[in-house]
Amino acid sequence: MEHKRILISTEKLKETIAYLASQINAAYATMENVMALVILEGAKYFAEDLLEQLSFPIEIDYLKASSYCGTASGCTVAMNVNDNLHERLKGKNILVIDDIYDTGRTLSTLLKWIKDSNPQSIKTCVLLEKEVPHDKNITIDFPGMKVPDVFVIGYGLDFDGQYRELPFIAELAPERIKE
Ligand code: IMP
Ligand code: MG
Repeated sequence: MEHKRILISTEKLKETIAYLASQINAAYATMENVMALVILEGAKYFAEDLLEQLSFPIEIDYLKASSYCGTASGCTVAMNVNDNLHERLKGKNILVIDDIYDTGRTLSTLLKWIKDSNPQSIKTCVLLEKEVPHDKNITIDFPGMKVPDVFVIGYGLDFDGQYRELPFIAELAPERIKE
């Protein structure tokens, strides 16, 4: 039995990422000291495809964060930070790349943490926004696409560590989700 329904095709993802890259290229064209901060694990695939289309010098770093227990997003926000990341963010123009804006708790926590590092600027690029009332309101400078209030998988997004490799975004059947 099929456990998933495709919501966003590979083709549509490609189109959206090309569009986001063009927006980011325009915004950062004349800026120096730009650093992409990729939020792992979810944004890994998205960031790879996005970053190769950027046409200005950019440093790339990673931050591991997770904030969901099973499918109930936002239980706690756990961060795993590289050595001296705080120092390396100082004075830089930070572009945060994340997979999905759901409750907004993860991004809100991360943005506060990044701000404490005194960067020059912070902007956010998020592939998906779930159509739910967010707990935390966050400005997404470069938004990708909206998805309905269902549990989505694929293109980096997982359920219990699975499905990240799917080349599209799908809805995971509720009966597949054991809470
Ligand atoms: P938020 O803090 O609720 O906005 O959710 C943040 C993180 O939870 C995201 O970056 C994802 O890694 C994960 N997440 C939220 N919703 C989903 C979903 O529908 N599928 C898979 N992961 C999700
Ligand atoms: Mg994430």
